[in-house]
Amino acid sequence: MPFASEQIQSVASQQLSKSDTIKLRNKHIGQACQLFYRSDPLKIVRGKGQYMFDEEGTRYLDCINNVAHVGHCHPEVVRAGALQMATISTNNRFLHDELVQCARTLTSKMPAPLSVCFFVNSGSEANDLALRLARNYTKRKDVITLDHAYHGHLQAVMEISPYKFNQPGGEQKPDYVHVAPCPDIYGGQFTDKLYPNADLGALYAQPIADICQRQLAKGHGIAAFIAESLQSCGGQILPPAGYFQAAYDAVHSTGGLCIADEVQVGFGRVGSHYWAFETQHVVPDIVAVAKPMGNGHPVGAVVTTPEIAQAFCDTGVAYFNTYGGNPVSCAIANAVMRVIDEEGLQQNAQQLGDYLMSECSQLKQEFDSVGDVRGMGLFVGIELVVDRESRTPDTKSARWVVNRMKQMHKVLVSSDGPNDNVIKLKPPMCFSHENADEFLLAFRECLTSLMQDQLQAAATVATSSSLATNGATAAETLANKTKMFERQDRLIKSV
Ligand SMILES: Cc1ncc(COP(=O)(O)O)c(C=O)c1O
Repeated sequence: MPFASEQIQSVASQQLSKSDTIKLRNKHIGQACQLFYRSDPLKIVRGKGQYMFDEEGTRYLDCINNVAHVGHCHPEVVRAGALQMATISTNNRFLHDELVQCARTLTSKMPAPLSVCFFVNSGSEANDLALRLARNYTKRKDVITLDHAYHGHLQAVMEISPYKFNQPGGEQKPDYVHVAPCPDIYGGQFTDKLYPNADLGALYAQPIADICQRQLAKGHGIAAFIAESLQSCGGQILPPAGYFQAAYDAVHSTGGLCIADEVQVGFGRVGSHYWAFETQHVVPDIVAVAKPMGNGHPVGAVVTTPEIAQAFCDTGVAYFNTYGGNPVSCAIANAVMRVIDEEGLQQNAQQLGDYLMSECSQLKQEFDSVGDVRGMGLFVGIELVVDRESRTPDTKSARWVVNRMKQMHKVLVSSDGPNDNVIKLKPPMCFSHENADEFLLAFRECLTSLMQDQLQAAATVATSSSLATNGATAAETLANKTKMFERQDRLIKSV
């Protein structure tokens, strides 16, 4: 470790009381700033691996932090950053080995012809620059984005983020932005239930083809189609097979470019591949990466083809970013990529992802409230529903579960999706089998409690309906469910 544990403990304990921190935050930090668990926020003072610790030393299992990709405060990453900070940190208008080595490693992980990098400080900057590159190359402005997508907080990327602009107070979508349906086969426009034998990839790609043709007919085709390779904010969405291939074909054939936003899902998280777009066998023209790349340090990049990069250069307007690609950021990103390989974290994501998927699918068999379980590697979504048949989202229960997981089990998960009913898992990649079991046990307890509440409500209904002629059936159903609950309750208590 670059720092002794006593030094770390001392930093972690030199602090204001939690109530003073809240007071100061309320006074000096804009209220629009998002805060997890707002009614009872967490004060996190220290992190290690897949764990975070609050001011009282309580340990929380972190199941949502895809930024601390190789684990909170990984010693190799800390050492690389601290050493480079103590050596030199300047801008990328000087030659530096960490910069070129970072670009070499990053591009070595990408398929040809993605071989040229531009460094930035965040996912928002990466997507913003990706748009500039695409608009410059095509000399067009229009962009296709997916419903529920989030691509960042800067003006240009807020314009392509329905997740934000569709909120009641959101800014209006500009005319040059076109929204295609989110390829959600469980709750979206084309579901596997409504279209059981259809090619859902083709169905979801068709609206993209239609927009391309329509805009071309108007004389100003599409500059770019931008999409997360797996949509995170949309509710952990895995697009159907063939979707990106068909969508990319439609965009390319009308002269547009395809941008893959890998800000959340890149760097081996999906297990089977380093980049999530590879799972759909496509090669984007531009890839935006950030969050996991710095393991908590702000660094991102845009990776593109020599041709698109050359067209950007040909404008004569030099690209300069004071911090993007500074030696400290690049040393950190290099350490992150090294650790992913050396510690086999991509393989770990695959193995644990398979385990989580099979265990969560088991929960789906046991609990009616689990409507869908989907995932790839350490990117898993569990969709809670009020009713399986109608797939009606259960937003209230999802929020309740998120809070109970934190309050009672000290496990941090979050909920997302258009109805905020999808429990998201995207933990640090050092997540272990024991961690998966800890999550599963806690989650099972929450689902059981939910079911217990529902049974109580059903009991009230059954009592009154037993007075009616079909009372026997309702009472039987209740008895069966009660038996099932008792079995699960025993299981929980016995662990
Ligand atoms: C898919 C996606 N793209 C871009 C961004 C923006 O990244 P940043 O917050 O680093 O600017 C985010 C942030 O959550 C994201 O989820």
